[in-house]
Amino acid sequence: MAESILKADETIREVFGQIKTTLRAQAEIGLETPPLSSSSLEYMGRGPAHPQSLEALREYIGDCERCKLHLSRNQLVFGEGDSTARLVFVGEGPGRDEDRAGRPFVGEAGKLLDKIIRAMGLTRGEVYICNVVKCRPPKNRDPEGDEVAQCLSFLEQQIQMIRPEVICCLGRVACQALLASDFKIKSGRGKWHAAMGIPVMPTYHPAYLLRYPSEKRQAWEDVKEIMKQLGLEVKSDD
Ligand code: URA
Repeated sequence: MAESILKADETIREVFGQIKTTLRAQAEIGLETPPLSSSSLEYMGRGPAHPQSLEALREYIGDCERCKLHLSRNQLVFGEGDSTARLVFVGEGPGRDEDRAGRPFVGEAGKLLDKIIRAMGLTRGEVYICNVVKCRPPKNRDPEGDEVAQCLSFLEQQIQMIRPEVICCLGRVACQALLASDFKIKSGRGKWHAAMGIPVMPTYHPAYLLRYPSEKRQAWEDVKEIMKQLGLEVKSDD
Protein backbone atom coordinates (compact mmCIF):
# COMPACT_ATOMS: atom_id res chain seq x y z
CA MET A 1 0.00 0.00 0.00
CA ALA A 2 2.68 2.50 1.14
CA GLU A 3 4.70 1.51 -1.90
CA SER A 4 1.85 2.24 -4.32
CA ILE A 5 1.24 5.65 -2.67
CA LEU A 6 4.92 6.51 -3.07
CA LYS A 7 4.79 5.39 -6.71
CA ALA A 8 1.69 7.56 -7.35
CA ASP A 9 3.37 10.51 -5.68
CA GLU A 10 6.43 10.05 -7.86
CA THR A 11 4.26 9.88 -10.99
CA ILE A 12 2.35 13.05 -10.04
CA ARG A 13 5.62 14.91 -9.45
CA GLU A 14 6.91 13.77 -12.81
CA VAL A 15 3.72 14.82 -14.63
CA PHE A 16 3.78 18.23 -12.92
CA GLY A 17 7.42 18.64 -13.83
CA GLN A 18 6.66 17.91 -17.46
CA ILE A 19 3.71 20.33 -17.54
CA LYS A 20 5.91 23.00 -16.01
CA THR A 21 8.68 22.45 -18.56
CA THR A 22 6.19 22.47 -21.45
CA LEU A 23 4.50 25.69 -20.28
CA ARG A 24 7.87 27.39 -19.79
CA ALA A 25 8.99 26.36 -23.27
CA GLN A 26 5.70 27.63 -24.74
CA ALA A 27 6.10 30.95 -22.94
CA GLU A 28 9.65 31.29 -24.26
CA ILE A 29 8.45 31.05 -27.86
CA GLY A 30 5.70 33.57 -27.14
CA LEU A 31 2.69 31.25 -26.77
CA GLU A 32 0.01 32.41 -24.34
CA THR A 33 -0.25 30.48 -21.09
CA PRO A 34 -3.65 28.80 -20.83
CA PRO A 35 -5.85 30.18 -18.02
CA LEU A 36 -4.45 28.77 -14.81
CA SER A 37 -5.42 28.98 -11.18
CA SER A 38 -3.36 31.29 -8.97
CA SER A 39 -1.74 28.33 -7.23
CA SER A 40 -0.68 26.90 -10.60
CA LEU A 41 0.74 30.29 -11.60
CA GLU A 42 2.56 30.45 -8.30
CA TYR A 43 3.99 26.99 -8.93
CA MET A 44 5.16 28.26 -12.34
CA GLY A 45 6.89 31.19 -10.69
CA ARG A 46 4.62 33.73 -12.42
CA GLY A 47 2.04 34.59 -9.85
CA PRO A 48 2.29 36.23 -6.47
CA ALA A 49 3.91 34.04 -3.89
CA HIS A 50 4.01 34.59 -0.19
CA PRO A 51 6.90 32.64 1.25
CA GLN A 52 6.78 32.63 5.02
CA SER A 53 10.48 32.38 5.88
CA LEU A 54 13.84 33.49 4.51
CA GLU A 55 14.56 29.89 3.52
CA ALA A 56 11.23 29.63 1.68
CA LEU A 57 11.89 32.95 -0.05
CA ARG A 58 15.34 31.77 -1.15
CA GLU A 59 13.75 28.63 -2.49
CA TYR A 60 11.05 30.62 -4.28
CA ILE A 61 13.65 32.84 -5.98
CA GLY A 62 15.35 29.68 -7.18
CA ASP A 63 17.88 29.80 -10.01
CA CYS A 64 16.47 33.19 -10.96
CA GLU A 65 16.27 34.28 -14.59
CA ARG A 66 13.83 37.14 -14.06
CA CYS A 67 16.24 39.83 -15.31
CA LYS A 68 19.26 40.06 -17.57
CA LEU A 69 21.75 39.95 -14.68
CA HIS A 70 21.38 36.16 -14.64
CA LEU A 71 23.22 36.03 -17.96
CA SER A 72 26.54 37.14 -16.50
CA ARG A 73 26.39 36.13 -12.84
CA ASN A 74 28.05 33.06 -11.40
CA GLN A 75 25.70 32.69 -8.49
CA LEU A 76 22.90 34.50 -6.80
CA VAL A 77 23.78 36.19 -3.50
CA PHE A 78 20.66 36.11 -1.34
CA GLY A 79 21.94 37.56 1.93
CA GLU A 80 22.99 36.14 5.28
CA GLY A 81 22.88 36.65 9.00
CA ASP A 82 20.47 36.45 11.88
CA SER A 83 16.87 36.08 10.71
CA THR A 84 15.82 37.95 13.86
CA ALA A 85 18.50 40.65 13.60
CA ARG A 86 17.87 44.06 15.14
CA LEU A 87 19.95 45.63 12.38
CA VAL A 88 19.91 44.98 8.63
CA PHE A 89 22.58 46.34 6.29
CA VAL A 90 21.50 46.83 2.69
CA GLY A 91 24.15 47.18 0.00
CA GLU A 92 23.88 47.67 -3.72
CA GLY A 93 24.62 44.33 -5.32
CA PRO A 94 27.24 41.60 -5.28
CA GLY A 95 30.70 42.38 -6.63
CA ARG A 96 33.20 39.93 -8.10
CA ASP A 97 34.15 38.34 -4.77
CA GLU A 98 30.54 37.97 -3.65
CA ASP A 99 29.54 36.50 -7.01
CA ARG A 100 32.26 33.88 -6.54
CA ALA A 101 31.50 33.17 -2.89
CA GLY A 102 27.69 33.38 -3.04
CA ARG A 103 27.85 35.56 0.10
CA PRO A 104 27.37 39.32 0.54
CA PHE A 105 30.18 41.72 1.44
CA VAL A 106 33.12 39.32 1.51
CA GLY A 107 35.56 41.42 -0.58
CA GLU A 108 37.50 44.54 0.38
CA ALA A 109 34.33 46.56 1.03
CA GLY A 110 33.08 43.65 3.12
CA LYS A 111 36.22 43.70 5.26
CA LEU A 112 35.55 47.34 6.04
CA LEU A 113 31.91 46.56 6.81
CA ASP A 114 33.10 43.82 9.19
CA LYS A 115 35.28 46.40 10.97
CA ILE A 116 32.31 48.75 11.29
CA ILE A 117 30.15 45.96 12.71
CA ARG A 118 32.86 45.03 15.23
CA ALA A 119 33.34 48.69 16.18
CA MET A 120 29.63 48.73 17.02
CA GLY A 121 30.22 45.91 19.47
CA LEU A 122 28.38 43.43 17.27
CA THR A 123 29.35 40.38 15.23
CA ARG A 124 28.47 39.62 11.64
CA GLY A 125 26.30 36.77 12.84
CA GLU A 126 24.19 39.13 14.93
CA VAL A 127 23.15 41.35 12.00
CA TYR A 128 21.67 40.60 8.59
CA ILE A 129 23.46 41.66 5.40
CA CYS A 130 21.88 41.76 1.97
CA ASN A 131 21.71 43.77 -1.23
CA VAL A 132 19.19 45.50 -3.47
CA VAL A 133 19.97 43.22 -6.41
CA LYS A 134 20.93 39.63 -5.78
CA CYS A 135 23.09 39.14 -8.87
CA ARG A 136 26.32 40.89 -9.84
CA PRO A 137 25.93 43.68 -12.38
CA PRO A 138 28.59 43.18 -15.07
CA LYS A 139 31.81 45.16 -14.55
CA ASN A 140 30.36 46.37 -11.24
CA ARG A 141 28.14 48.93 -12.96
CA ASP A 142 25.15 50.28 -11.04
CA PRO A 143 22.09 48.03 -11.26
CA GLU A 144 19.65 49.35 -13.87
CA GLY A 145 16.06 50.36 -13.17
CA ASP A 146 14.49 47.19 -14.60
CA GLU A 147 16.89 45.03 -12.57
CA VAL A 148 16.10 46.86 -9.33
CA ALA A 149 12.38 46.73 -10.11
CA GLN A 150 12.54 42.97 -10.63
CA CYS A 151 14.52 42.28 -7.42
CA LEU A 152 13.12 44.88 -5.00
CA SER A 153 10.22 42.79 -3.77
CA PHE A 154 12.71 40.14 -2.59
CA LEU A 155 14.54 42.72 -0.50
CA GLU A 156 11.23 44.00 0.85
CA GLN A 157 10.19 40.48 1.77
CA GLN A 158 13.51 39.88 3.54
CA ILE A 159 13.00 43.07 5.54
CA GLN A 160 9.37 42.20 6.24
CA MET A 161 10.35 38.77 7.59
CA ILE A 162 13.19 40.07 9.75
CA ARG A 163 11.40 43.27 10.88
CA PRO A 164 14.64 44.78 12.24
CA GLU A 165 14.66 47.81 14.53
CA VAL A 166 16.99 49.64 12.14
CA ILE A 167 17.96 49.39 8.48
CA CYS A 168 21.32 50.83 7.46
CA CYS A 169 21.37 51.70 3.76
CA LEU A 170 24.90 51.55 2.41
CA GLY A 171 25.23 54.04 -0.43
CA ARG A 172 23.03 55.78 -2.94
CA VAL A 173 21.64 52.73 -4.75
CA ALA A 174 20.19 51.22 -1.56
CA CYS A 175 18.78 54.60 -0.50
CA GLN A 176 17.19 55.21 -3.88
CA ALA A 177 15.64 51.72 -3.87
CA LEU A 178 14.22 51.91 -0.34
CA LEU A 179 13.68 55.64 0.27
CA ALA A 180 13.33 57.88 -2.79
CA SER A 181 14.43 57.58 -6.39
CA ASP A 182 16.07 61.03 -6.23
CA PHE A 183 17.82 60.41 -2.89
CA LYS A 184 21.14 62.26 -2.58
CA ILE A 185 23.57 60.46 -0.30
CA LYS A 186 25.65 63.53 0.58
CA SER A 187 22.71 65.56 1.87
CA GLY A 188 20.52 62.64 3.07
CA ARG A 189 23.06 60.59 5.01
CA GLY A 190 23.23 60.84 8.79
CA LYS A 191 19.51 61.64 9.14
CA TRP A 192 16.74 59.26 10.09
CA HIS A 193 14.32 58.21 7.35
CA ALA A 194 11.82 55.36 7.27
CA ALA A 195 10.95 52.49 4.96
CA MET A 196 8.17 49.97 5.57
CA GLY A 197 7.67 51.62 8.96
CA ILE A 198 11.26 50.89 10.02
CA PRO A 199 13.85 53.59 10.85
CA VAL A 200 16.49 53.84 8.13
CA MET A 201 19.93 55.39 8.51
CA PRO A 202 21.67 56.09 5.20
CA THR A 203 25.45 56.20 5.15
CA TYR A 204 28.27 55.96 2.68
CA HIS A 205 28.94 52.65 0.98
CA PRO A 206 32.13 50.97 2.34
CA ALA A 207 33.56 50.88 -1.21
CA TYR A 208 33.20 54.67 -1.33
CA LEU A 209 34.93 54.93 2.06
CA LEU A 210 37.83 52.88 0.71
CA ARG A 211 38.20 55.41 -2.12
CA TYR A 212 37.66 58.46 0.10
CA PRO A 213 38.97 57.50 3.57
CA SER A 214 38.52 61.06 4.85
CA GLU A 215 34.73 60.44 4.75
CA LYS A 216 35.04 57.64 7.34
CA ARG A 217 34.63 60.17 10.13
CA GLN A 218 31.20 61.17 8.78
CA ALA A 219 30.19 57.53 8.33
CA TRP A 220 31.17 56.82 11.94
CA GLU A 221 28.82 59.62 13.07
CA ASP A 222 26.01 57.85 11.16
CA VAL A 223 26.91 54.51 12.74
CA LYS A 224 26.86 56.09 16.21
CA GLU A 225 23.28 57.24 15.53
CA ILE A 226 22.37 53.61 14.84
CA MET A 227 24.11 52.49 18.03
CA LYS A 228 22.15 55.05 20.05
CA GLN A 229 18.89 53.91 18.45
CA LEU A 230 19.71 50.30 19.37
CA GLY A 231 20.81 51.22 22.90
CA LEU A 232 24.40 50.08 22.27
CA GLU A 233 27.18 51.68 24.23
CA VAL A 234 28.78 54.57 22.32
CA LYS A 235 32.26 55.24 23.66
CA SER A 236 33.46 58.82 23.46
CA ASP A 237 35.97 59.47 20.66
CA ASP A 238 38.43 61.34 22.84
N1 URA B 1 29.09 45.87 -2.56
C1 URA B 1 27.77 45.73 -2.33
O1 URA B 1 27.00 46.66 -2.49
N2 URA B 1 27.36 44.54 -1.90
C2 URA B 1 28.15 43.50 -1.70
O2 URA B 1 27.67 42.44 -1.31
C3 URA B 1 29.52 43.69 -1.93
C4 URA B 1 29.98 44.87 -2.36
